[in-house]
Amino acid sequence: MTTTRTRGDRTAAWGALAAHYEASGKGFDLRRAFAGDPGRFASLSQAAPHVFADLSKNLIDAHTESLLMALARESGLEAHRDAMFAGAHINATEDRAVLHTLLRAPPGASVGAKLAGAFSDVQATLSAMLAYAEQVRADHTITDVVNIGIGGSDLGPQMAVLALDADVAPGKRFHFVSNVDGHELAAVLRGLAPEHTLFLVASKTFTTAETMANARSAKRWFEQSGSVDIARHFAALTTNVEAARAFGIETTFGFWDWVGGRYSLWSAIGLPIALAIGAEGFRRLLAGAHAMDDHFRTAPLERNLPVRLGLLDVWYRNFHGFTSRGIAPYHSALRRLPAYLQQLEMESNGKQVDMSGEPVSAATSPVLWGEPGTNGQHAYFQMLHQGTDVIPLEFIAVRDAAHDLEGHHAKLLANALAQAQALMVGQADAGGHRNFPGNRPSSFFVLERLTPESLGAFLALYEHRVFTSGSVWGINSFDQWGVELGKVLARDIEPRLASGDTGGLDASTAGLLLRLRPRA
Ligand code: F6P
Repeated sequence: MTTTRTRGDRTAAWGALAAHYEASGKGFDLRRAFAGDPGRFASLSQAAPHVFADLSKNLIDAHTESLLMALARESGLEAHRDAMFAGAHINATEDRAVLHTLLRAPPGASVGAKLAGAFSDVQATLSAMLAYAEQVRADHTITDVVNIGIGGSDLGPQMAVLALDADVAPGKRFHFVSNVDGHELAAVLRGLAPEHTLFLVASKTFTTAETMANARSAKRWFEQSGSVDIARHFAALTTNVEAARAFGIETTFGFWDWVGGRYSLWSAIGLPIALAIGAEGFRRLLAGAHAMDDHFRTAPLERNLPVRLGLLDVWYRNFHGFTSRGIAPYHSALRRLPAYLQQLEMESNGKQVDMSGEPVSAATSPVLWGEPGTNGQHAYFQMLHQGTDVIPLEFIAVRDAAHDLEGHHAKLLANALAQAQALMVGQADAGGHRNFPGNRPSSFFVLERLTPESLGAFLALYEHRVFTSGSVWGINSFDQWGVELGKVLARDIEPRLASGDTGGLDASTAGLLLRLRPRA
């Protein structure tokens, strides 16, 4: 299947949006917009599977959205989306399909003849992995699970295990070791007994330097304790099952090159999640994501939440020129969500050339960052309210708490609502110092409860939102060549730290290397 994509900045709609920005976009005032349109909340909020989103505190109106919809259509977003679901090789620079959605299709789903073989492999691997998860959950001698992986082989499972803490059966502790910094692994190993520990070596490629270094050290630690049963205490989650076997791991769960690292928590990489919340819980996570996949695939663009969000991102990045977006989950269990979303969006859309390798002429990924509320309020919110930059903020609130401590949840939710309100309404002060300009945009997401389904749906919502903006920008959201150069240079520098050889290095790198060399 071939898809016709037109770079957004080469469409007629782009020019219309630029004119609209000049005419009314840059002077848009949220307070006036609400005063002038009693239906604003209803038209700019919507329910999608497991997620309610209020976009009404954003610098848009119906006309902005209709121009953005035209932009999506003229860019070929719908055909591009359908090509992804159909298994076309839309990741052209790696000549790969992009099929994380297939991982979430329910058993028995009709996926078409072309994907039938892949889907039956997915289902078989999922069943085997979930059976293994239940077996380990029932094994009370395993008290500690250590996931060794980095990037997508760490952030998704770690974020989800923390997020679903309320569903995690007691009796097992979960540890995540990602950094090559030995302090991290050493601190985890200090608290472990080899006979009670299961190591999961999670790496799509099974070549990533950090993960291999940590896996080797974990294996050495295990063997030095006199333990021999690697088959019982190590499992590998990888597309490179042969390399895992060569490393000495017999228990392996595979996945496929069409699962990008940052889209892999739905695959065998999700094993820590299945260990934490059980096979049924993991299937619920997949079901939530699948519900959002269906919404993205079938809802008309005007009522398609990931599409509306992705287009809002384009509007802010390219017309308003906003360079970053804040993520404020008002739920402490979502504390790793900003880090997870950073990889998802910045590794996907941090690109400077389009699909044909030509430089883009419009800005791409913003910087994503964030911290849970209310903590952020006592740190960086000052700048959001009174700083000189406008930074759209995303509130994520959960209606029902998973604890019964009196009063806390109402205070938490009141703070989320109040901050979004304060950003928008502002406050006048003749003296200046207490002046809040207001008109600062935010989106507000509501989950009824933080469950496997709602988390799955919420993450899929973001994936498809990133797809949407990347699609309009005309870039490949599914490769990550930008991570390679530093890896290559580190391989060259590592032996120089021991030898002190600075030949051919720039003066700064050489000077720093000499300072960092171990002293005898
Ligand atoms: O270096 C970037 C990256 O390739 C990410 O895209 C990926 O999630 C991470 O490294 C880990 O890769 P792997 O799962 O192959 O170890």
